[in-house]
Amino acid sequence: MTRWTHVIGTGGYLPETIRTNHDISAMVDTSDSWIYERTGIKSRRIASAEETASSMAEIAARQAIEMAGIDAQDIDMIIVATGTPDLVYPSTACLLQQRLKIEHCVGFDVQAACSGSIFGLSIADQYIKTGFAKTVLVVGSEICSRIVDWTDRGTCILFGDGAGAVLLTASDQPGILATHIQSDGGYDDLLYCPNPQAAATDKPSEAGYIKMRGNEVFKVAVNTLGRIVDETLEANGLEQSDIDWLVPHQANTRIIAATAKKLGMSMEQVILTLENQGNTSSASVLLAFNEGVRDGRIQRGQTVLMEAFGAGFTWGSALIRY
Ligand code: UT7
Repeated sequence: MTRWTHVIGTGGYLPETIRTNHDISAMVDTSDSWIYERTGIKSRRIASAEETASSMAEIAARQAIEMAGIDAQDIDMIIVATGTPDLVYPSTACLLQQRLKIEHCVGFDVQAACSGSIFGLSIADQYIKTGFAKTVLVVGSEICSRIVDWTDRGTCILFGDGAGAVLLTASDQPGILATHIQSDGGYDDLLYCPNPQAAATDKPSEAGYIKMRGNEVFKVAVNTLGRIVDETLEANGLEQSDIDWLVPHQANTRIIAATAKKLGMSMEQVILTLENQGNTSSASVLLAFNEGVRDGRIQRGQTVLMEAFGAGFTWGSALIRY
């Protein structure tokens, strides 16, 4: 009998504070209309001073556990994707394990920038399929607002905070059909965030803020995502019409629309969250998946294509029979 990685729960958390384009227009030289037309974003959430990646991950994880109807002790692996960990170490996954009071499990973080959740899903799938793990919690949790330069209009308009979670378990029912992940370290100058603690680095900066050459990133993202969705369909012997939902990383509506067009999908088949969330980096795909599942658009038995692209560059896709 095939051992599948089956989705049994999803969760999501967004901080309470809303920062609108109008609020940002009072901080830098921009406008609501420019931001909305170029990105599709109207507002984003900002974490409070007390919140951390692990505190937000805990709320999203508890929702996923509740939906799955399992005991948290049944989780034997926690993977947290984040570029904004609470601490350098322990990992955010270990802090989450402590918050969830799970006694026997292994937890570790994945750093793949905006592609982090897809990398997490891929890792979870390998461990479940080999039998090493049975039930795996994957969370993407980010406080991007703390690494954004709020005087840089090229980046501060884009990012937001939030956490998304998915709970996976070994099953004879289909789930993850395939994942494809890749990276190319040759583009580090286009999108990076310096480590403010590193004295010796070839990318020195007085502050650990996101640096991005947005237009160049945009072009590589559109081309790469177009290629990865084609490759994913071909590698799995699927036609465009076999995909019910596209759940993309939420970076820019224009990038998402280009990918949907490549797949011959209408925007009605795309789960879009960025209008009121912005780009939540590694959290965005799982936040969108959670929204689509909870509002009933994504139904059991349907085929979902997730994709993401981020710093590294990293990119990937996950094909899931929900
Ligand atoms: O999630 C990880 C991966 N990240 C991404 O995928 C982000 C990809 N990049 C983008 O989403 C877009 O490149 C941005 C939204 C960041 C920028 O949009 P763009 O259409 O690429 O604009 P641009 O950088 O080419 O700038 C066009 C013009 C420039 O003015 P001039 O030189 O034409 O006079 C900019 O100075 O728009 C100006 N500009 C702005 N104007 C008002 C740049 N940022 C702003 C702004 N408000 N916030």
